[in-house]
Formats: sequence, structure tokens, C-alpha cells
Amino acid sequence: MRTTFIYGCFMLLMLACGELKGQSPAEEKPMFQSLTFDQADKKAEAVVASMTLEEKIAMIGGDRSFFIRPVPRLHLQEVFMSDATQGVRIQEGLKADSLSKTRLEKSTAFPCPLLLAATWNPGLSFEYAKAVGEECRAGNIGILLGPGMNQYRQSQCGRNFEYFGEDPYLRARMIEQYVTGVQSTGTIATLKHFAANNTDHFRRRSNSIVDERALHEIYLPGFKAGIDAGAKAVMTSYNQINGEWCGQSAFVIDTLLRKELGFQWLVMTDWSSVYDGEKLIKSGQNLEMPSAFALKNVHELLRENKVQEKDITEMVRSIVRTCFAMKFDERDPMNREPARYDEHEAAALQTAREGIVLLRNEGSILPIKDNVKTILLTGEFVKKLAAGGGSARVRGYDIRLMLDELQSALGDRLRCSKDPGIQEIQSADVVLCNVGTEDSEGSDRPFELPETQEALVQKCVNNNSNTVVIVTSGSGVRMTGWNEKAKAILYAWYVGQIGNKALAEIITGKVNPSGRLPITIEREFRDSPGYGYVPDGDTVFTGRNYKLEAAHPVFDIRYTEGIFSGYRWYDKQNIAPLYPFGFGLSYTTFEYENLAVSQERFRGNDTVHVSITVKNTGNVIGSETVQLYVQDVECTVPRPVKELKGFKKVSLKPGESRTVEMLLQKKDFSFWDTNTKDWKAEQGAFVILAGSSSRDIKLKKEITLE
Ligand code: BGC
Repeated sequence: MRTTFIYGCFMLLMLACGELKGQSPAEEKPMFQSLTFDQADKKAEAVVASMTLEEKIAMIGGDRSFFIRPVPRLHLQEVFMSDATQGVRIQEGLKADSLSKTRLEKSTAFPCPLLLAATWNPGLSFEYAKAVGEECRAGNIGILLGPGMNQYRQSQCGRNFEYFGEDPYLRARMIEQYVTGVQSTGTIATLKHFAANNTDHFRRRSNSIVDERALHEIYLPGFKAGIDAGAKAVMTSYNQINGEWCGQSAFVIDTLLRKELGFQWLVMTDWSSVYDGEKLIKSGQNLEMPSAFALKNVHELLRENKVQEKDITEMVRSIVRTCFAMKFDERDPMNREPARYDEHEAAALQTAREGIVLLRNEGSILPIKDNVKTILLTGEFVKKLAAGGGSARVRGYDIRLMLDELQSALGDRLRCSKDPGIQEIQSADVVLCNVGTEDSEGSDRPFELPETQEALVQKCVNNNSNTVVIVTSGSGVRMTGWNEKAKAILYAWYVGQIGNKALAEIITGKVNPSGRLPITIEREFRDSPGYGYVPDGDTVFTGRNYKLEAAHPVFDIRYTEGIFSGYRWYDKQNIAPLYPFGFGLSYTTFEYENLAVSQERFRGNDTVHVSITVKNTGNVIGSETVQLYVQDVECTVPRPVKELKGFKKVSLKPGESRTVEMLLQKKDFSFWDTNTKDWKAEQGAFVILAGSSSRDIKLKKEITLE
């Protein structure tokens, strides 16, 4: 126990300092180095020149759902791909001959990416992703179909758990490390789903109407960060943007992705998301997945001169170039690296330790004290692991259940009851009540908890004032009905196969919680910027029903909030959220002092150094995430009240203080100027705000751009 605690604190400290980034206890392999665009392109040009038209056509449509077809006579191997962001999905549905190509017997079920974002620790994003990449290598998986990284625009989206929350800056910092981690193993990372894919309500039928500023300031920066980190693939999304399906939209792929964001590598469609072969070929798209459906009439299009062979050649060249850049041609698929599962599980555990968020802790009921004699555990996911579903589902191995982990941490003080009676609830010293949702792609789910769970949590808080609620969900849920009556609330998201161990460590105080919300949790769904996206007459939960989906008319979702997404919305509308973006408690307390800047007046090319001193003023070691927001005081266009532009997580012993440094550059003061189609920072005053959440600003300083 003691060793675990010390190791936990050590890892926390090291990761907080970023000292574990790129290192692991076992002997480190050198990071994979890809070829440059020119090197890979030169090789591709020669090979593609010898391909027949039929070979090229065969390559631009996927095979057996998850493969790119090979050209054996030219030594182009088939490429296997697999989902996704929270670990490797083992494709049990594949036919035996395809499955034998991958020998991955097991894969680690990591905490969900939204929990990873809640760690606010980019170094951990690297470690997590490197582990996922290594498991891909062990399974001969060339392309990981992740990271998923769409904006958390509204809490009902069934896929929020797969993404990184509501802030483009936080997402960008996590994604660049994620991409670097996956690709350091020689596996391709796929940025998905491009773009403005923020609901799974009839996901093939929605049309996102988004303005230019919102696209650039909110929806694209995460992708841009992934691209700049070297991501070798992008997957387009199911939805339309401004009236055209993304996978066949020249505006989305050619203009936004390729020209503006500078992406040069493989673009693929989401599974069954395109309808018009001619548009697809002319859009900059390279590969239709899972097979050629829109592209089934290619021969006809060529015959009618609607598309040319050179268009097909370009698509193939992009696929082959990407494979050469990743040196797929130099690998023997039968000679795979064994996965280092112990290290991967350690990364998964550390992620859970840092990503579970303590939202409320009245009277310091947590950690549970020794004098607490009877603890009642109840709830939906105590004997079954709460996890996200759909293509992101990872089965995992050696699953640690909440009941088992709490039992071994709390001993025979703990009793578990599925449906406790009032008497049972009243007589316990403390009640641990778990509620949650199992979110999945293919549909959204209501903000409100399912009725039976709402009833259970109400029964607990109304009958025992020492109720600790543990929420296991992939997104925000409505807590307004019981928040104030709960003594404590732990937001545990989906913790993955080993994460319940971290939950037990937090409940017993072996680990001090340090997660911070990467989302705002609203009081009522109608408070949120996404409210109103569901067409009149529809019910939110439809399950995954293709027939129903196909019959549903295309519907518009107007992003009328524009750039005011997430906390930018609540700030502007002056709506008090239940829990604000960036919020999370600790078992210790922190003080902020001395916000200093390198210069109070700066010019466009200057880098402003910002430093803040944080002190642990409590009695236990703990990590604080210092958040830096920027506010534009006067501007000719509307701007958010504040925007996150820096953060740093530091671990501090009791009494210890540390000065953290962050850098601000022109881009951090800029907005997207629709006139010049570029980023612009207007001269004048800005305020730098440092705090422990978007609503708890501790220090401010005005600086001027000359
Ligand atoms: C999902 C993608 C996933 C693909 C392959 C689609 O339904 O939207 O995210 O990568 O399936 O499983």
C-alpha cells in the first residue's frame, strides 16, 4: 500500500513536471522518424507511375472494412487500420483470414479521452498515446483511427467521451502530444472527425451551419495542432458543413484542410459517409471507407470525362506517399514488437489518478476517515465497468471493478447493495452512490440521468447527509436536483480497466485528486449554447438505427453562438454554470501571488513571459493547474470575456511554492479576421488573468500591444 502511495506521488510529481515525457522505466527505443514529404513523394511517384488504372481504382476504396488494398507486384503491402482514441479496438467482427493478420490478443482499455483532457497534463497524453501506438505495432495495425477531437459543443453528444472537451487551446496542447506519442511508434494517428461534428443525433443527416470565425477560432485549432505535430491522416466527418457532406466537400478538404491548415497526407472518409463519386474525387479526398460505395461508378465517370485518370492518380499518390513516409514498405508484418502491457497499464492508471475530478467536498468528508465505520456502496456501475460504446469500445483485460477496488481499500467497513432500503441508507455512516450513463456513437443521450438513477441518487441524498456521489459518464449530466444535498461529488468519467484503483486511492486519500474540468457543467441544458439543436418532434435517444436515420430529412444546426462556445458562452451570457470550465478541488489548498510579465508594453513579434508563484498552503502534497486566460479590453469585433492561452500543472509539497512560467505570443492575442482571412491582434490593452478555473481568477495584469 505504502509503496503504491509513494509511487503514485512520485509519478504525479514527475508527470506534473513533464519529466516523464518521452521516457519510461524500461529501455527506451528511439522515436520513429518518418520520411519528409519530398522523400516520400519521390518514392511514391515512381511506384504510382507503374500502377495500372485498375490497381489505382482498387486502392481508393477500402477493403474488408478496415484495409487498404495491397499491390503485391509492386511490393505495396496491405494496410490494416483500427479504432481508436482510448485504446485499440480488437476487431472481433472481422473474418478469420483478416483477423489472422493481426495477432493482438488483448489491448489496454484506457480511461476515455475526456478524462485524459481533465488531467491537463500533455506529458501524460504523450505516454498514453505512445502505449496505444505500441499496441498497434504489436497487432500490425498501421493506422490508428484516432484521436477523435471534436469540440464539446453540447453535453448531450454521444461521443463527447471520445473527445478532449470544450476549449481549443487545451485540446490543441493535448492533441499535439497525443499525435507525437502515437507516431513515435511508427503508427499513423488519424485526426477525426473533420469538421464541426458535434452531435450524433441522426449523424448522417445534420448540416452544421458555422460561420468563418467560429470555424477558425473554435473548431479548427485542435486539428491544426495535430497537423503541425505531424499527423499523417485525417478522417472527414458524417455531417454536412454549410450544405455539403464533409467527405466530398472541396471547401472542407481542399480549402480548409489542405490549403489553410496545410495538411499534405492521407485523407479518408468516415465509414459510409459519402454519396457522390464525382464530388469526392474533386474534393481532395483520397480514400473512401469502408469500401467504394460513392466511388462505384468511377469507370463511368472516367468514360464520360467527368473525372480524369490523373485525378485518381493524385488520390493514390497521396495514399502511397503516406505509407512510404511511415516506412510501411520496410516492415515485415509477421515480425511484430511484443506490447509492454505493464507499462501501458501504468500509464492508464496514472491518467485516471490525474483525471478524476473532485467537484464538491463539504466538511472534507473525503478522503474517508478511519473513524467511519459503515460505508454503503450502491449504484449502476459498481459491478460492471462504465465505458463508452461504439467504435471506441475497448474490451480491455483484468478489469478492476469499482466494488472490488473499494472493498480492498476499505475492507469490511464497506457493504454493497443494489437497491438499498431507506433504513439501510440511513444507518450508514457514509453512502457512496454511483450514477452515470453509457454513452456511444450513433445517437445522443439526454442531459438528465436515466430515471432509475435519478431516483437512486435522490433516495441516497435525501436519507443520508453523508452521501458521496460518484459520476461515471462520458459527458456532463444534470446534477442540479441533488448537487447541494450531496456531501461530495467525484466526477470519474470512464476510468478504463484499471482506473477504479485510482478512484479507490482518491477516496481513501492515497492519491490527492488533481483533475480539472475540461468542460462546463451547466445547471440546465437550456442554459447551454447547443440547446435547440434537436429538430422539433425528434426524441434525443434513437439508438443506432440506420433505417430511421436514412429516412430522416437533412436538418440544419445553426451554430448561432458563433465563437462563444463553452465557457465563452456562459461568460458572455452571464449564466452561472453549476461547475465552470477548469474547476476541480484538491485535498490541499493553494495560494497565488506575484503575477509578473516580462514587459507591460509589447510589440507584435515579442514573446511575453508571464510568471506566477503558487504555494501549497495545506497539509498534503497536491497538484495545482495554473490557468492563464487573456482578455481583449477593446476590439472592433466581439471577443470572448476571456480565453485560455496557457496552463501548467505543478506538484507541490505542503508549504512548498514554485514560480511557473508561461509564454504568450501574438497569436494568443489574436482573432480570425474575416476581411484579411488571417489572424489579427489589435493594438491596445489586454488583461492577463491567472486562476484556478475560468471562474476563479486570482490575479490580473494589464499589458498593452503597441
Ligand atoms: C466512426 C469512426 C470510426 C469508424 C470505423 C465510424 O462509425 O464514426 O469514428 O473510426 O466507424 O470503426
